[in-house]
Amino acid sequence: MKKITVSAPGKLMLFGEHAVVYGRPCIVTAVNQRMHATVELIDQPIFQLNAPDVQIKNYKKPMSDLGNGEIPKGAKFVEIAVGNFGVRKGGLSITTKSEFSSQFGFGSSSASTVCVIKALSELSGKKLSNRQIFDLSYKTILDVQGKGSGFDIAAAIYGGTLYFLTGGKVIKPLKITSLPIIVGYSGIKVDTITIVNEVLKKAGKYPKVIDRVYNNIERLVEQAKKSILNKDWQSVGELMNFNEGLLAVLGVEGKKLADMIYAARDAGAYGAKLSGAGMGDCMIALAPPSKVSSVKKAIEKAGGQVINIRANVEGVRIES
Ligand code: PMV
Repeated sequence: MKKITVSAPGKLMLFGEHAVVYGRPCIVTAVNQRMHATVELIDQPIFQLNAPDVQIKNYKKPMSDLGNGEIPKGAKFVEIAVGNFGVRKGGLSITTKSEFSSQFGFGSSSASTVCVIKALSELSGKKLSNRQIFDLSYKTILDVQGKGSGFDIAAAIYGGTLYFLTGGKVIKPLKITSLPIIVGYSGIKVDTITIVNEVLKKAGKYPKVIDRVYNNIERLVEQAKKSILNKDWQSVGELMNFNEGLLAVLGVEGKKLADMIYAARDAGAYGAKLSGAGMGDCMIALAPPSKVSSVKKAIEKAGGQVINIRANVEGVRIES
């Protein structure tokens, strides 16, 4: 085999963001907006990348230079992933294509990293296990951005809805058949690492206060895990409200997201919260079926864009 196409899902954080960077658990779900990567083995020892969604056209360099010199932002994860996998002979031509905008915060960098490692694992005949794919992908994320819990990598690989502990110490699928969440995009692009660093600064100044916030988030995640398994959406929504309160304490709520979250609650949602780093990207809500359409309208009235997704979908897979 010389050429393969694989796809991996995007993700949405349900509970536990920020605390999961510091040894606490979170819950993440995979969404049906997928990243696709076609990887082809070529004879010349050249690395070629086309990733039009992130403005990378015909990016080329010798395989021996992987990871060296100035790497354009949109090429970093794929290039470092290839370097970490280690390709012994010849070169590679890679094209990535996303079904979703990289602005949404659905984890396009993590999903493309996972796609490339999975594709190389198949093309090389090494057939890595999901755990090995996780470890190589997570190393890539840390090499590129220095920080991160790896929850997004786990969602891209395993799919479904996962209870996840920092660095993949625990990756436990929560066996459910559906997850009726509503998603609103704020239109504000955020840089996750910048926000993680701001929270870190606060934790440096008020270590006891912030540590207690993380401990409370941990308790709430344990409770949410049970409520999700029981499909008790009302409780899951209420726990979202608690989690949002604690994220507000960390200072990452952001006015626009808060407006959308409060609008969703006022329109009859069981609960709503931000999803991910905060300050921008997306919020999520859970509502009784009779209120779903008014909640969506309220989110749009508050200036958000409703994104119709299906959650709890399949992880990385071979397409052709
Ligand atoms: O901004 P996102 O959607 O990539 O989520 C970040 C979640 C954090 O917990 C803040 C960081 C992490 O790596 O877990």
